[in-house]
Amino acid sequence: MTLRIYVPRDAAAIACGADELAAALKVAAIARKLDIEIIRNGSRGLAWLEPLVELVTDEGRIGYGPAEPEDAESLIAAFVGDGTHKLRVGRPEDLPFLKRQTRLTFARVGIVDPRDLDDYKAHGGLKGLEKAIAAGPSAIVDEVTKSGLRGRGGAGFPTGIKWKTVADTAGPQKYIVCNADEGDSGTFADRMLMEGDPFCLIEGMAIAGVATGATKGYVYIRSEYPHAIAAMNAAIDKARRAKVLGKAILGSAHDFDMEVRVGAGAYVCGEETSLLESLEGKRGTVRAKPPLPAHKGLFGKPTVINNVLSLATVPIIMADGAEHYRDFGMGRSRGTMPIQLAGNLNYGGLFETAFGITLGELVDDIGGGCFTGRPVRAVQVGGPLGAYFPRELFDTPFDYEAFAAKDGLIGHGGIVVFDDSVDMRHQARFAMEFCAIESCGKCTPCRIGAIRGKETIEKIIAGKDVTRNIAVVEDLCQTMKFGSLCALGGFTPYPVLSAIRHFPEDFHGTPHRIAAE
Ligand SMILES: Cc1cc2nc3c(=O)[nH]c(=O)nc-3n(C[C@H](O)[C@H](O)[C@H](O)COP(=O)(O)O)c2cc1C
Ligand code: SF4
Repeated sequence: MTLRIYVPRDAAAIACGADELAAALKVAAIARKLDIEIIRNGSRGLAWLEPLVELVTDEGRIGYGPAEPEDAESLIAAFVGDGTHKLRVGRPEDLPFLKRQTRLTFARVGIVDPRDLDDYKAHGGLKGLEKAIAAGPSAIVDEVTKSGLRGRGGAGFPTGIKWKTVADTAGPQKYIVCNADEGDSGTFADRMLMEGDPFCLIEGMAIAGVATGATKGYVYIRSEYPHAIAAMNAAIDKARRAKVLGKAILGSAHDFDMEVRVGAGAYVCGEETSLLESLEGKRGTVRAKPPLPAHKGLFGKPTVINNVLSLATVPIIMADGAEHYRDFGMGRSRGTMPIQLAGNLNYGGLFETAFGITLGELVDDIGGGCFTGRPVRAVQVGGPLGAYFPRELFDTPFDYEAFAAKDGLIGHGGIVVFDDSVDMRHQARFAMEFCAIESCGKCTPCRIGAIRGKETIEKIIAGKDVTRNIAVVEDLCQTMKFGSLCALGGFTPYPVLSAIRHFPEDFHGTPHRIAAE
């Protein structure tokens, strides 16, 4: 009898002891003279259950978690017995957190072996690329446009239009650049995808190459993601050997190869033009636009630059058709969004669902409220440049336009939850401080404004001339919003102004935090 067991290799699971657990399970099996095969999958995205061990049985994969190395012996005993164990959670896909999801981009994450191209193919992998090659460049661009896919990196720009611009621009060399800098606080979907289903990103980039005539791709990954870097490098190597990458991919007339580049650790290097500077070996400062990267991007050549999730969603669009994808969602936000639930929550993790779900459902029903047991008070959506939403706005549907109408943004889909001990003056100060630290320094409203903003909020916190200083901060925010060259300076006002607007009691009177205690 061979025990087939899945133990995630995902960085979050490893941080919770997955490597030690895998080793302990092996030792425990050998002690019982059992054959054991341990497959290192990606995470299913149920963070509170990590490390989630799964045993392959006739009833499907049965999960046990969160498991620690000390549980290894009792788990092996359960696996060879009737399966009963205190950590048994049943089939992961039957858990409400997974059952309520619509997994399109993340369909294979947590299920397949990320190092095994055959497993990828057995789960529908490469169908999109095969169809894309058969359809040809303009049909691919049409399909992606029809799907309604918008950039998942933050700006929500239609992916099909971006690809068409590059396809229509002549150039001896074009590039596909994948933005895997994932700097937003509370976000981890890019990492999970690269660690759990790296071939999907490779397939998406190859499709982008065929669509636009680009023959070379780069994945720019932040240095803090060593496991994603390793997963991508291993997958690229395998894809190259299987002729999914290289000359005449899948036996077609198209060449496409790619490589990983590692960032040096600056939030602004996630901004697309800054990223291109960094890729070229220069300091990561923002370029003025025009020219657009689609016309003059990497090394001055036409370049598609897309987020990991945008590119990794293309294979399923090509495989199942634009209509299938477009039928999910609401308004102009089509398809699904891999939402990342983080911060003070009972059930954090990756929740992919069609656009339209409300913020309240995400935080209260799915996230299960605060881990501390205190009431949820504020939720920051869309990373460090996103607005803070109070409970009164929890009926806002997850949709680009609906969030914009409330002076917020969904960005890369990160949600960070705070309980009623949060002091929103400090969150506002932090937003300005973050901008001051991460500013590339190219334009004055951001470089100088963020420092003055932080100083002025510190005066408010100290109770100095509060009303006047709030007016100064509000005025400064207008200057940053309309005078900054990029969204780092331009969007920092969102968290600051939303804190002042939605939580005035923290700024004008007794801070709520103190009142609550
Ligand atoms: C300061 C700043 C940081 C950004 N960081 C990221 C990032 O980490 N990842 C990302 O995909 N996009 C990031 N963006 C957005 C990119 O500039 C760009 O819009 C995106 O890579 C385009 O891909 P998409 O159309 O697929 O979203 C950032 C933008 C700004 C202004
Ligand atoms: S807004 Fe800030 S990060 Fe953006 S270009 Fe200006 S100084 Fe650089």
